[in-house]
Amino acid sequence: MATEAQDGTLTVTDNRTGTTYEFPITDGTIRATELRNIKVSDDDFGLMTYDPAFMNTVSCRSAITYLDGDNGVLRYRGYPIEQLAAKSTFLEVAWLLIHGELPTTAELASFTEDIVGRMPVDPSIAASIGAFHQDAHPMGVVEAGFGQLSTLYPEAKDVDSDPERMDALYNTIAKIPTIGALAFRHNQGLDGVAPDPVLGYSTNILKMFFGSDYEPDPRLVRALEILLILHADHEQNCSTSTVRVVGSSRVDPYSAVGAGVAALYGPLHGGANEAVLVMLREIGSKDNVPAFVEKVKNREALLMGFGHRVYKNYDPRATIIKKACDDVFEVTGVNPLLEIAVELERTALNDEFFVRRKLYPNVDFYSGLIYEALGIPSDMFTVMFAVGRAPGWVAQWLEMINDNEQKISRPRQVYVGADERDYVEIESR
Ligand code: ACO
Repeated sequence: MATEAQDGTLTVTDNRTGTTYEFPITDGTIRATELRNIKVSDDDFGLMTYDPAFMNTVSCRSAITYLDGDNGVLRYRGYPIEQLAAKSTFLEVAWLLIHGELPTTAELASFTEDIVGRMPVDPSIAASIGAFHQDAHPMGVVEAGFGQLSTLYPEAKDVDSDPERMDALYNTIAKIPTIGALAFRHNQGLDGVAPDPVLGYSTNILKMFFGSDYEPDPRLVRALEILLILHADHEQNCSTSTVRVVGSSRVDPYSAVGAGVAALYGPLHGGANEAVLVMLREIGSKDNVPAFVEKVKNREALLMGFGHRVYKNYDPRATIIKKACDDVFEVTGVNPLLEIAVELERTALNDEFFVRRKLYPNVDFYSGLIYEALGIPSDMFTVMFAVGRAPGWVAQWLEMINDNEQKISRPRQVYVGADERDYVEIESR
């Protein structure tokens, strides 16, 4: 967290001109646009920062999630993730992220009723999903579903209207699992299952997946709630930044979230949980772990579910998930892949290669094992991540749209292409 002790000024001398500049430091940052004052001549555009992959760029001021990657700390609106995972529900956390405070009993009851009541989707969405190939990856289907939601709710284009915004944000949280469940059922060649307004959010998810006759063990419902809570926000990660960047064009929130879904689909982001299970299956047995770790060290493979751009310590979410694994396996019996995962973690954490690079298990290392124990196939794991992340995306979108400093996102570039040259007729090339 930035402190006043980090404030002050920065004095910079441009050795090209000998001119000295002084810039204010606020919250441990300088304004990148201040550097534009550093010029070699009047017609110079001014100095810019070059930061591919945004390794050292703060894109916003946010009051939603606090993350200290060196010490493995994660808090939503000030509340430690460990307390929320132990005591809260997913919809309570969703309310907290959007509104900034924990809900009262009455607020939570009406919010829960509202969200569950919004879970059904327009029949045209089920019809569109039916038109996908049966083996369509469900993340591609969810991505398309958000494009369709934006056409079904054109009033969401009014991003300045409070009621329209809230409608779109609540619809996003409510409908994302329904679209995911329809995609899952389509893969199985089954019809969709309508959500039941008298049941809770996570119970509905499991019933929409496995059928209205399925009676989930409450311990499994709780494990799912915990997973969703742990994924609910993670400040300016790739998909959330995508939602903010796309939303900065003032497109409707459904479209911005659709872009976030696409970003999450990637194997270096939300797709990693699926990749972990593929990796564990490939390793096949505990005895093959040392050989696999050697492959990783020889750069022939990545240890999926390890490493993080911000955490250079144990991801606190991984600790909670590991514990939740034990609770779930008490109900379902132990997944044999767990033994390989535990051995892989032990080997990596004792190996100089991983220690030196501060590579620890991230949230995805164990989450797939729980999803698999719940009976959810691996290509649905990233959809589950998206369901969990939906409140974070919409809370961050709302913060962005209310932030007077935010304008349309538009980075600069250093042009390294050809100088001006004349067009060559095709027959002369
Ligand atoms: N396996 C092996 N080596 C790794 C791994 C890994 N999982 N992660 C990082 N490294 C190595 C890199 O090769 C690099 O080594 P070098 O300095 O000798 O070249 C060093 O550690 C630093 O890694 P970077 O790639 O620079 O770290 P970056 O912050 O760019 O990447 C990322 C973070 C993408 C998460 C990376 O660690 C990774 O690919 N992990 C595997 C995929 C994964 O689990 N993603 C989920 C992330 S969490 C989430 O999205 C919810």
